[in-house]
Amino acid sequence: MFAAFADTVRAGSGTAVAELGCGPGRLTAHLRDLGLEPFGVDLSPVMIDIARQAYPGLRFEVGSMHALDLPDASLDGVVSWYSLIHALPADVPGYVAEFARILAPGGHLLLGFFESEGGPVTPFDHRVTTAYRWPVDELARIAAVHGFAETGRMLREPREGERFRRGHLLLRKEGRRD
Ligand SMILES: C[S@@+](CC[C@H](N)C(=O)[O-])C[C@H]1O[C@@H](n2cnc3c(N)ncnc32)[C@H](O)[C@@H]1O
Repeated sequence: MFAAFADTVRAGSGTAVAELGCGPGRLTAHLRDLGLEPFGVDLSPVMIDIARQAYPGLRFEVGSMHALDLPDASLDGVVSWYSLIHALPADVPGYVAEFARILAPGGHLLLGFFESEGGPVTPFDHRVTTAYRWPVDELARIAAVHGFAETGRMLREPREGERFRRGHLLLRKEGRRD
């Protein structure tokens, strides 16, 4: 899905990408290796310190995905890879609205999350704190409300030692650049 995201972004008009909830930055670095110009944002200053030390050539900032210090329509791509999993379900539409605000028309969004395998949005006892499993269709619906069209999805069955199916959604913000 990262390769598909990178190909899709590179086929457009720019390569500026944010990884929101980047943690230690390993996927921000992967996005760079895929030919994009990424930076990472995380709520945790500890994670941002780790990321800066691990990848000194990349930019990492402390910030929250629900209110980013970024101009409207300033990015070609946004990745939220397992960073919405702890958000209260009622707050998720607000996060998606923020992703839509910072993406340029025609920009791309990649979401990774735990999938609910036919059930509704379901909390579970993640080792950090409560997390939520989402129906892939429900996240696609919320994204559609905020102006995203689905480009592709992947459901990955749990590997050995994993409990849940994974959901991955690739979405395009509607509209064209001037
Ligand atoms: C499961 S980790 C994923 C890290 C990274 N995306 C990866 O896959 O390696 C989730 C990260 O999201 C961050 N996060 C959670 N809520 C956030 C928010 N509102 N704004 C920014 N980061 C947030 C956490 O601090 C944590 O580092």
